[in-house]
Amino acid sequence: MPTNPFAFPLTMEAIARLPGASTGSNHLSQLRSVFGDQAAVDAALRAGDPVLYDFTAVRKAGGDAMLSFGLTAIHPGTVGAEYHMTRGHFHAEASDGDELYLGVAGRGLLLLLSRTGEFRTVEITPGVLLYTPLGWAHRTVNTGSEDLLFLSAWPEATRYDYEEITRRGGFPQRVMCEGGQVILVENPNYRA
Ligand SMILES: [Fe+2]
Repeated sequence: MPTNPFAFPLTMEAIARLPGASTGSNHLSQLRSVFGDQAAVDAALRAGDPVLYDFTAVRKAGGDAMLSFGLTAIHPGTVGAEYHMTRGHFHAEASDGDELYLGVAGRGLLLLLSRTGEFRTVEITPGVLLYTPLGWAHRTVNTGSEDLLFLSAWPEATRYDYEEITRRGGFPQRVMCEGGQVILVENPNYRA
């Protein structure tokens, strides 16, 4: 079935009402292994199980759509001194595709890691469009004091590879808060 043109406001609520939309929340308990300070993870879990980010995504919008898209809100805060972040993934080799990010609100960093181990960071701020090319893993980090809200869009056929990030022990650097400043520190668990 062909997809009809459509438009929507850039809000979680509006996207959640579109055909094919799904929504979800990722709690710290689902992301505990991505943080470096496991004692801080345990303490945060004892105090509750905070939601680190919410998302709403639309795949196969209205039929045979070739693009998927979604809005993600990473809530502000740290686990220990490490800022809240997404798990991060590569796109699976056989069906890899590029991905676009658009900063909508808040402030953060996009971490990028190539399959050959090249590492880059790019700031996400409202109105900035970021292009994530084929073969680069991507993770987003909220370094601000409000929700980091961003839109992403990717080819519908894309499948995700989370295992490679797990195998590498995460990304080469961690994004930490030190005296109110954002700093990048080496991740001792990372292996190329
Ligand atoms: Fe992706």
